[in-house]
Amino acid sequence: MKVIITGLVLLFLLGGCSSDIIISSPNGRLQVIFRVNNDSPFYEVKRDGETVVLESPLGFELQDEPSLSGNFEVVNLKEFTLDETWSQPWGEVKNIRNHYNGMTITLQEKTALKRLLRITFKIYDDGLGFRYEFPEQSNLKDFVITDELTGFIMAKDMNAWWIPAYGDEIDSEFLFSNNPISQLTEKVHTPLTMEYQDNLFVSIHEAALVDYPAMTLDPSGQLLSCDLVPWASGIRAEVRAPFKTPWRTIQIAENAGDLITSYLILNLNEPNRLKDLSYITPGKYNGIWWAMHLNKYTWSQGPNHGAATANVKKYIDFAAENNLTGVLVEGWNEGWDYDWSEGRFEFTRPYPDFDIEELTAYARRRGVGLIGHHETGGNIDNYERQLPEAFAYYQKHGVHSLKTGYVTRRPNGEHHQGQFMVRHYQRVLEMAAAHQIALDIHEPVKATGLRRTYPNLMTREGARGTEYEAWSAGNPPEHTVILPFTRCLAGPMDYTPGIFDILIPSNPGYRVHTTLAKQLALYLTIYSPWQMAADLPENYTGHPALQFIRDVPTDWEKTRVLHAKIGDFITVARKDRHSDDWYLGSATDENPRSLTVKLDFLIPGRRYIAELYTDGPSASMEDNPLDISIDRKEVTSAESMDLDLAPGGGQAIRFHLLE
Ligand code: NOJ
Repeated sequence: MKVIITGLVLLFLLGGCSSDIIISSPNGRLQVIFRVNNDSPFYEVKRDGETVVLESPLGFELQDEPSLSGNFEVVNLKEFTLDETWSQPWGEVKNIRNHYNGMTITLQEKTALKRLLRITFKIYDDGLGFRYEFPEQSNLKDFVITDELTGFIMAKDMNAWWIPAYGDEIDSEFLFSNNPISQLTEKVHTPLTMEYQDNLFVSIHEAALVDYPAMTLDPSGQLLSCDLVPWASGIRAEVRAPFKTPWRTIQIAENAGDLITSYLILNLNEPNRLKDLSYITPGKYNGIWWAMHLNKYTWSQGPNHGAATANVKKYIDFAAENNLTGVLVEGWNEGWDYDWSEGRFEFTRPYPDFDIEELTAYARRRGVGLIGHHETGGNIDNYERQLPEAFAYYQKHGVHSLKTGYVTRRPNGEHHQGQFMVRHYQRVLEMAAAHQIALDIHEPVKATGLRRTYPNLMTREGARGTEYEAWSAGNPPEHTVILPFTRCLAGPMDYTPGIFDILIPSNPGYRVHTTLAKQLALYLTIYSPWQMAADLPENYTGHPALQFIRDVPTDWEKTRVLHAKIGDFITVARKDRHSDDWYLGSATDENPRSLTVKLDFLIPGRRYIAELYTDGPSASMEDNPLDISIDRKEVTSAESMDLDLAPGGGQAIRFHLLE
């Protein structure tokens, strides 16, 4: 065996047949051990010497070719390290440290085809990523993967917060369950976040998903096997060497909050590729949206058509008066009068009562931008046929933000997370960048940190958002204190918060499952660079709590998680990127909480006015969700503050620095 060994990597030869190649995180606490055992590759992960992931398999099954999983020897080993800090053009934090030790192991089959497979590990203080590479070679050119053999055998029977990978709702739009992994009986989506005895938190996901299917996890005891989302034909991936797979990521933390402030997934993505970022602006928006979900307006034509020009102007006025930067208009184009699932949408043909010239000019005069909308109904052929014209149309009208939608169980008969759709979303992303358009994707492929490479990929849905409160049993209060630790680890989420008319009296049987103060807290606890003020203008007008929505930024310099208990409560403080103000959001499940926060994140020695939006004395999600107290008090960093959250409640605070 030829192996290059230098400082970072330790290698132990064991009787000539198996060898351990060990690499540690910069702080030395995490270790990855790679070995070839009986000619097959394996890895193992330890924290402080204790095993987190037991010896777990690596490799592939291929169609009509021998599997790429055995008969291997290590023919090359390279190590590298990096410690750099890079800045996000927008984000939950401005500067991110990218500090890891890495190694690339080249494996070659010992006989027959002598095919090559490379595996690169990067190990950080907050976890690790590894990816496979198929180098260019004569015996592996175009091939089909029928199974990726990567496994994650957890050393402990950890408690997992999971949603099914396949089920009755659209893709990822499920409520979470919590079970020991040994009790899981179906395939689950990632990020899969797991906890063990209050001091080990692990989340398995992936980074840089391009031209490959997403990974779901197939459980069996404590083994979680990579299960790539298949094509309708049953194959998993079409590959042409040279090719690199997405990174398989394992974030490891001592408390749940540290998962949220781990930027490992972003670090594993390529740096920004876009030259022009001028059109990409974080902000808040309202829209012709909730009223359709409430059946007040229609997407289709008729007397209550939401997108009618005069109606859109009212929303533009409201946005301009309340510090919102965008107005989303759904139902503006031909196609909504058919069954959506037919996907007969026309992306350059507005309905006659939607005057795009007049509205874009009106919005511009008022300092607001229109947010475009492409609902595809999952008819990808129809959408892709129109793509260049559809994007040129918006660019011509000065529309720089776009929400897309794929509201169907199977776009073109394929899964949202399969390779077919991953390719489609990538085409749309690149088309958007070419036309100076930033994206909010609904029914998306899962986020894997590509926003670092394409900062026009701003936010997405990819979970059960507020819309479910309008027409289903809704989102129980624990849902929004699970999301920050699960779905939101993947990237920003367009949850669409800000409903003030919690009980929706116009729609008996439906309601929002929070207090009003918790609706405000969601602007902090669920990060998105675009946040919606989702309710109808008339439900905000004259309400003193609207001030918080006007004030709250969506672009942050710093983020701190102050309390974190998955499924129970969360408190997040964030510092505005463009001022010295801090904002805090705290949210609970159905139980009341008394929490204390130290204000030591504020600048020492300076005075701040805290503007407090608190559940009122008789507030409770069930009985009195609208009771909110709004107070002001002067504070300094030396103080602590008590937060009293009602059942299903929350609290939001603005800390405004006094001169
Ligand atoms: C589902 C999306 O999540 C929702 O936001 C949108 O209003 C509808 N599809 C219609 O496009």
